[in-house]
Amino acid sequence: MLRNRQALIPYLLLVAALAGGVLWHESEKVPGLGRVVSTGQADIGGPFQLTDQSGKRVTDKDFRGRYMLIYFGYSFCPDVCPTTLAVMAQALEKMGDRSRRIAPILITIDPERDTPKVLEDYVKAFGPTFVGLTGNAAEIKGVEKKYRVYAVKKPLEGGNYGMDHSSVIYLMGPDGKLVSFYDEAISPDDLAKELKQRL
Ligand code: NI
Repeated sequence: MLRNRQALIPYLLLVAALAGGVLWHESEKVPGLGRVVSTGQADIGGPFQLTDQSGKRVTDKDFRGRYMLIYFGYSFCPDVCPTTLAVMAQALEKMGDRSRRIAPILITIDPERDTPKVLEDYVKAFGPTFVGLTGNAAEIKGVEKKYRVYAVKKPLEGGNYGMDHSSVIYLMGPDGKLVSFYDEAISPDDLAKELKQRL
């Protein structure tokens, strides 16, 4: 239910956007130099102002100088989110000291239930360095849009609800710009290997 075909579409759009962005940049020639440059940057990411699990207001600038490994999910998710966050945690563990350069971040897509307190209890299960970010509905909508995240409320029986959502791990560089992104199905070993190459 939380992983359906519909949720794949935004991921594919993201892939297409990124590929388009990379191709666009690769086709740009630097005048006079006659060589092709590739910045590899698509229009994904950007400034945000949110609240962390301790209730402190934080912005993307607070993470400058470190890499951000960002996942959009929610603490009530029964399956994909905890699995993906566990993959991130295991990958960072495999990296040893080098993982200090990376801030693992969960940005909630369910700010209604994911208060700072709820996130505090949730993210600490994945490791002491995990950051949980929430905000008001407009702040969350804004950051979802910037990262091209798909997230829609799905009513469940009994008056509860789940979230249909895209599931992508984003690696943002020390300058806050997109470096790469990974599918939720990546293994901890592969993610660790990828991150080591990127750092
Ligand atoms: Ni989920």
